[in-house]
Amino acid sequence: MTIKKIGVLTGGGDCPGLNPTIRAITWKAKQEGIKVTGIKNGWQGLIKKDTMELDLDSVSGILPKGGTILGTSRTNPYKQKKDTEKVKHNFSSLKLDALIAIGGDDTLGVASKLSKEGIKVVGVPKTIDNDLSCTDFTFGFDTAVNIATEALDRLHTTAESHHRIMVVEIMGRHAGWIATYAGIAGGADMILVPEVPVDLDEVCGIIKKRHARGKHFSIVVVSEGAKLRKGLVVKGAKKDAFGHVLLGGIAQQIGPEIEKRTGFETRVTVLGHIQRGGAPSAFDRVLATRYGVKAVELVLSGKFGTMVALKGNDIVSVPIEDAVGTLKTLDMDLYEIARIFFG
Ligand code: F6P
Repeated sequence: MTIKKIGVLTGGGDCPGLNPTIRAITWKAKQEGIKVTGIKNGWQGLIKKDTMELDLDSVSGILPKGGTILGTSRTNPYKQKKDTEKVKHNFSSLKLDALIAIGGDDTLGVASKLSKEGIKVVGVPKTIDNDLSCTDFTFGFDTAVNIATEALDRLHTTAESHHRIMVVEIMGRHAGWIATYAGIAGGADMILVPEVPVDLDEVCGIIKKRHARGKHFSIVVVSEGAKLRKGLVVKGAKKDAFGHVLLGGIAQQIGPEIEKRTGFETRVTVLGHIQRGGAPSAFDRVLATRYGVKAVELVLSGKFGTMVALKGNDIVSVPIEDAVGTLKTLDMDLYEIARIFFG
């Protein structure tokens, strides 16, 4: 089958690296004589037929820019049958020969279902959380780790000057990847992650031990999805279209409690969406570019239902259905390395 026109969309939470991927897809497609239709705001654009044509002019200058020129949303077309039908109908009416879906577990979960229903899809993995299976890294993660590490460096100097405990909340809904990488790189004295529920007394014990050896400041990194033995802290009952509750608030909750139990002055910082905004790191720009080029190659070789992935230093393809559903949780060997430096 000759490929004349492909669609591309970005879905789920944005992350640095989306624009370099869109740029790479557009350039590679141009080289192969293929037209590219950008679908706006994730699956919502395919439901509403909201699109823009992509050419070398429209992707000019976007390589160093965060976010996505296509816009994004957390739309789930499988929530309502009529939306699923619209997606399939519009795929044909736009005369797309294939679709490249750039997203995390939710967006690619939809791509996997559509692929089983006959839509020709190739997936590209992205998320700052790095929790997608079948790939060593998603783009966006390296940038988030760099931002969080810089924040930890800055918090160190003020913590040390004021002899304070700094509790720093870092993104990562279900996995402690960002917290652990940034915690190791930024010299955290304790890292709390969703994969390892802890007792607050244990945390306070470590801080007290530090003070006893003459260290009158501590940096406690906490993943937004970290679990205390008494349970998960959520902001409210609000859920997104994929059923995820809005997390956040754990640092605000444990900060005052740590101060109470240790007697040491404590401050709380929530990094939030700062970790997702701004320019992608060089690593993410290169990874995103390699993913974009490979995605077009997979389309050309008819390997639909697959996702590009990083294995070691190679860009490979894996079935999308193997990548979605089961999240890639933190490598416990890495957490054990981080643990050596606690206290
Ligand atoms: O999945 C990426 C992520 O940034 C998570 O780390 C975080 O929990 C969530 O998205 C935040 O979602 P929103 O942008 O909808 O607030």
